[in-house]
Amino acid sequence: TSVPVVIVGAGPAGLMLAHRLGRAGIEAIALDTRTRHEIETTQRAGILEAGVARDLVETGVSDRVLRDGHEHQGVELRFAGRPHRIDFQGLVGASTWLYPQTDVFIDLADARKRDGGTVHFGISGTEVLDITTAAPRVRYTAPDGTRHEIRARYVVGADGSRSMCRGLVPEDRRVRYTKEYPFAWFGILAEAPMSAPELIYAHSAHGFALISQRSTTVQRMYFQCDPQESVDAWSDERIWETLQARVAGEDGFRLEEGPIFEKTVLPFRSFVQQPMRWGSMVLAGDAAHTVPPTGARGLNLALHDVKVLAEVLIRTLGSEGDSALDDYQPRALQRVWRAQNFSYWITQLLHTAPGAEPFDLQRQLGELDNVVGTRAGRTYLAEQYTGWPTGTGD
Ligand code: DHB
Repeated sequence: TSVPVVIVGAGPAGLMLAHRLGRAGIEAIALDTRTRHEIETTQRAGILEAGVARDLVETGVSDRVLRDGHEHQGVELRFAGRPHRIDFQGLVGASTWLYPQTDVFIDLADARKRDGGTVHFGISGTEVLDITTAAPRVRYTAPDGTRHEIRARYVVGADGSRSMCRGLVPEDRRVRYTKEYPFAWFGILAEAPMSAPELIYAHSAHGFALISQRSTTVQRMYFQCDPQESVDAWSDERIWETLQARVAGEDGFRLEEGPIFEKTVLPFRSFVQQPMRWGSMVLAGDAAHTVPPTGARGLNLALHDVKVLAEVLIRTLGSEGDSALDDYQPRALQRVWRAQNFSYWITQLLHTAPGAEPFDLQRQLGELDNVVGTRAGRTYLAEQYTGWPTGTGD
């Protein structure tokens, strides 16, 4: 088989890239070691920038986000036991959409099927060869055990935060920027009514908590925990006690409780690898960069990468040739570092570092007060949270 583009990784970034290229008449084959079922049932992010939701509709992936998603015109910051609403619409005229990544993936996988695109799930033994030539190849073993080779002009590594592709850039020619944090998130899904109409990001002396949603009957919540925490140590009762303590306040606010049917400890770090291109291979999404989950940037950032990459690949494979691909990294990277900064900033704003002194906690409250108590502060948060214009970096 021979196609212009092989995409290693068929998560949202890989499939959206295949979809965008397909619309321009460029065939791309996407591969993933996970089965479609595995990807569909792994809980991931929940918030889309309005521009991302619009792109899903306007590029013809699906309009389901408009029916099954929920527009959020703001977010609540809760600290010192008090609620403070950040009015995105009023401040910057933008909203976000609550629409789980698993649904984005389902829409994209269905669209690939509908449009006759090729996606191979559940493959193994991926090998990417000859990326420093104009004729790279990808080999893999299909679920039935047969070995295959695809020849391409370009290979895209959209293979997520444990990317194999990024390791193909020679060690002495790449830089890896990493920031580890002394905490992680404990994520749950619970069968319960919504506790609030919008998301709540809660700072407390006991640590951070995030109250999110999946539907009127299923809720998604997270709380800061030790990176070594084991889910087995956490009964439903202990989880609810912890969450209630982190949102408690003088207004008597309480979360609606219910049976918890998923418990996971989520990894937590900041990471960027540069360059994002090596010869005939390009990296996109988490393969090139990871952000901590606070502020919901990861999925949005990955989809921005492939928006820029699709545009650049269409020019590259059209009349402009290989040099047009040089436009990708600078255009993608400016937003990457903006998102890195925002994710880091909102993480340190809301989490309690182990060993934090009373001064640190009071200083955080001062910073939070500066954010919600000034128009500039609220506007900054609203602008960062709702996203930046496409091709920030243009
Ligand atoms: C969700 C996750 C996030 O990291 C975030 O900042 C907001 C919402 C979620 O899973 O719903």
